Amino acid sequence: MSKIDSAYFIEFAEHGDERGNLVVVEGERDVPFAIQRVFYIYGSDPDIVRGQHANRKSQFVLINVAGQSKIRVKDGLGNEAVFCLNRPRTGVYIPTMAWKEMYDFSPDSVLLCLASEHYDESEYIRDFAAFTAEVRTANQAATGGNR
Ligand code: TYD
Repeated sequence: MSKIDSAYFIEFAEHGDERGNLVVVEGERDVPFAIQRVFYIYGSDPDIVRGQHANRKSQFVLINVAGQSKIRVKDGLGNEAVFCLNRPRTGVYIPTMAWKEMYDFSPDSVLLCLASEHYDESEYIRDFAAFTAEVRTANQAATGGNR
């Protein structure tokens, strides 16, 4: 399956009552991995593009807990998808080896990122050409194309 097809929206249950709303995200229940790391991004101008990397080991779920942003996901084989995040109860799952770019941040955007791994810079691929080369090599190996 393409990495594009493996990226998908997740709707979290909202426990709302007259006091307000509460969204619960539990590792291995509401997201398909144990959560090892949480970080969040805010204060990025609308013309900024963040991310621009792929991860060999980390899976992510991104949630705009306030405001909105867009996530472009590329599989390195010419396919891409754009996810618009604009609700605190909606996340997008991003698998390993998917190129991601976060952009179009609203001034009030707070983008919460849940990750399956602790931070390890060596598992980040920050060069798009290197990413596509690694994807093509893996693809050839999987299809027997390099025999
Ligand atoms: P970076 O990966 O460039 O952020 P983004 O994906 O939003 O564009 O990270 C910015 C800086 O923060 C960089 O110096 C690495 C550091 N960083 C950590 O130390 N731990 C982390 O978990 C993350 C995501 C980044």
